[in-house]
Amino acid sequence: MNTIIFKNSDEACKKASDMICSVVKEKNDALLGLATGGTMENVYKYIVEEYKNKKVDFKSIRTINLDEYVGLNGDHPQSYRKYMDDRFFNHVNILKENTYVPVTTGDINKELLRIKDIIDGNKGADVQLLGVGINGHIAFNEPCDRLNASVSVVDLDEGTIKANSRYFSSIDEVPKKAVSLGIGDILKAKKIILLAFGCEKANAIRELLKNDFITTKVPCTFLKAHNDVTVIIDEALSKEL
Ligand code: F6R
Repeated sequence: MNTIIFKNSDEACKKASDMICSVVKEKNDALLGLATGGTMENVYKYIVEEYKNKKVDFKSIRTINLDEYVGLNGDHPQSYRKYMDDRFFNHVNILKENTYVPVTTGDINKELLRIKDIIDGNKGADVQLLGVGINGHIAFNEPCDRLNASVSVVDLDEGTIKANSRYFSSIDEVPKKAVSLGIGDILKAKKIILLAFGCEKANAIRELLKNDFITTKVPCTFLKAHNDVTVIIDEALSKEL
C-alpha cells in the first residue's frame, strides 16, 4: 500500500485529481469509479480546472458512482446525482448518458442488475476514488458481521446518518438506506485511491495502515487485499496514527 501525506487537504486533492487525470489521458474511454462527500469536493474542483485548461478530455469517459440514498430523486439537493452534476459533470464535456449514479426511485432490483453489468462489463473500474467514514465504511459498506460482495441495498449506520445530517435540515430527513457497491465490486477496480483528512478519520486509517488484520468491523481494511491502493492523507490525520 502506497501512503502519501500532504500538508493539507487541498494539496492532497490536487494529487488525487492528477492521478485521475492520468488515467483519463491514458485511456480515453476509461470507467472512473467516483465518490461523493466533503472529502471529494476539491478533487472535482481540480479535475474541472484541468479540463478548462484543456489538459483532459471527457468525451468518451464513463463514470460510475459508489452509492446513492434510496428514495432521493436526481434533482433532490442532497442526492449524489445532483452532487456529481453540480461539481463535475456539468462543467466538462462528458456525455450525461455515460455518467452513472444509481437511480433509487424506481425498480431497485433492476437497477442493481444494471450496475452489476456496468462494473462487470469493464471488469471493474479503471480507477476507483474512495473516501472513508469515521467508522471505516467505504461506499456505504458499514461495519457489520458480514459485508456484501456485490452492489445491494444497505442500511446506513446511526453514526453515518448523524455525520451526513450536516447536509440536511434535520436528522430525520436523512435517508436510512442506500444503494451501495459491495466490497467485491470495489476490489475489482484496477487502481484505488483513498483519501482521508482530519483526526476524526484516524481510527479507521490506523486499522488500514498499522496492522495486518482484515475485519468486517472496519470495512476499509479489505483494501489490504488489493495490490494497487494509494492512501492520501493530511498531516492532521498522520499525527494521530
Ligand atoms: C460517498 C461515500 C462515503 C464517503 C464517506 C466520507 O460516496 O461513498 O463512503 O466517502 O462517508 O464522507 P466525507 O467525505 O463527507 O467525510
